[in-house]
Amino acid sequence: MAIYHYEQSTRKFAESRQFLAQGVASSLRAAMKPIPLFAESASGARIRDVDGNEYIDYLLAYGPSILGHSHPALVESVYEAMTKGASYGLQHEGEIQLARRLTELLPCAESIALSGSGTEAVMLALRLARAHTGKRKIVRFHGHYHGWSDTIFTSFPSSDMIQTSTSSEEYKEEQSLPGTGGQSDIALTEVILLPWNDTILLERTLREGKDQIAAVISEPVMCNSGCILPAPGYLEKMRELTSELGIVMILDEVITGFRVALNGAHGRFAIMPDLVTVGKALGGGIAVSAVGGKQSIMSLLETGAVSHLGTLNGNRVATSAALATLKVLSDNEGAIYERMESISRRIVEGIRDLLSKKGIDGIVNQIGPVFHMMFTQEKHVENFEAFNNRDASAYSTFAERMLEEGVLLRPNGLWYVSAVHSEQEVKETLAAVDRALDRI
Ligand SMILES: Cc1ncc(COP(=O)(O)O)c(C=O)c1O
Repeated sequence: MAIYHYEQSTRKFAESRQFLAQGVASSLRAAMKPIPLFAESASGARIRDVDGNEYIDYLLAYGPSILGHSHPALVESVYEAMTKGASYGLQHEGEIQLARRLTELLPCAESIALSGSGTEAVMLALRLARAHTGKRKIVRFHGHYHGWSDTIFTSFPSSDMIQTSTSSEEYKEEQSLPGTGGQSDIALTEVILLPWNDTILLERTLREGKDQIAAVISEPVMCNSGCILPAPGYLEKMRELTSELGIVMILDEVITGFRVALNGAHGRFAIMPDLVTVGKALGGGIAVSAVGGKQSIMSLLETGAVSHLGTLNGNRVATSAALATLKVLSDNEGAIYERMESISRRIVEGIRDLLSKKGIDGIVNQIGPVFHMMFTQEKHVENFEAFNNRDASAYSTFAERMLEEGVLLRPNGLWYVSAVHSEQEVKETLAAVDRALDRI
């Protein structure tokens, strides 16, 4: 067995902190134990760090690398784009092609706006919803994450990540607290934070607040906290109520878009939101995001009633990367999704078998090529309250042990599988899980 050591990463982290505030470029990355690793290179399903350690990668850059790393089609498309000029500040054919393709793939998208990150796509969707309805308030849910902008960031790590949900009868609406120091608290006065998957509470809140509520924003699957599926009928009810009450329904598919299905979770579940946000997997690792939705709302951009800005929006590298990624994902009528689903299922079932064989209490929640593994005595994790009962620190130790077994995991329990993870990776991963579970 390889001996894993992290001297170079440790040295580089110290060096980085002299120049780069906190030593990492996104706060979440600082949580990696034993040390935030420095990557040297990556290809396919494997990544190497600067100490020469190699890992099977289930972090996948926090989701985007759905084709694995350095996929030839992606490399070629980005290279070609670079040779023609990375960004123009002018319109170009790639924007038309990408927007057209997105309207073909995403059932709810009659028209598209392009941005650079999931956070920006959500900002635009909220702005469109407010302008469309003339109302101000936004309903969002415990345990969901919609980026780090001031008007929506109440989690990671904020009150709603530790506060437990209560039943509909007991629930009292509270002022949402900022998710970070330095955030405007006025911005959050327009946010109503609810437990998810509670139909009665949703109906009561929307009926009572219908004159103030502009939008409900929800992840279609609670991927950010336990990969929890919507309760049967929940999203349908959300759709029905929002339509009836003149509220915009936004599904935030920054994780699920192009991951759980080529037409997103809303395609997979046959729910038609008014607006959808996508990012992460769309660019296969290159920064690009989009809002898609009904023409009646998107036309606010057309009329100039709503501004949408961004120097690098729709740049050539981003549109080429997204088109190449979508092409690979669409080949053979999206057969890749069945493959990713079956590889993921094999890993998930293997982990469940190992947990049960060793008498370790744990749960794995899966949809397609994304799943959440947690140590918990709960029999099912179907809401945020149950999710909060997991042993997060045991899992972070497990992730550390897995590193020493040559498998890179996100320390919070969410695994992403790519189109190029194969039987070989499944075999090695399960052998690593087997050994790591004995060492926690
Ligand atoms: C559901 C969801 N929405 C929005 C975002 C923000 O995306 P980005 O990190 O690209 O700004 C994320 C990021 O994890 C997300 O999971």
